Amino acid sequence: MWEYTDKVLELFYNPKNQGTIEDKGEAGVEISTGEVGSIACGDALRLHIKVDQETDKIIDARFQTFGCTSAIASSEALVEIVKGKTLDEALKITNKDIAEYLGGLPQEKMHCSVMGQEALEAAVYNYRGIPLATHDDDDEGA
Ligand code: FES
Ligand code: FES
Repeated sequence: MWEYTDKVLELFYNPKNQGTIEDKGEAGVEISTGEVGSIACGDALRLHIKVDQETDKIIDARFQTFGCTSAIASSEALVEIVKGKTLDEALKITNKDIAEYLGGLPQEKMHCSVMGQEALEAAVYNYRGIPLATHDDDDEGA
């Protein structure tokens, strides 16, 4: 039987970076969003990043997550990790880094940390104007 680490519970109960980032029309910054999952399916994560266009650094980030304890804690961890990083550095973050930051995640819950990593990738690609290949397009079954 597994248990959550104290860090997971701390971030789950007191997430400080939940929500969206208001676009105040500041010069030199751009806000980009990445989304994975679907509310209908049950798990979804939306990550907003604020990028300094000059330095390519993520100066702020917020998340909106619909999911389990691990998903919420992973989202909070991701935001804490990603702040201050350049986009290239951010793209190197793996879901294992997120799990490590949390002091570990139960094996059954590792997939919850993947959502954060994917949303981050989507947000960076969005910012760069690169279309991200989606898997739901070739899923014709109903
Ligand atoms: Fe659909 Fe987890 S149940 S992504
Ligand atoms: Fe689906 Fe954690 S987000 S089980």
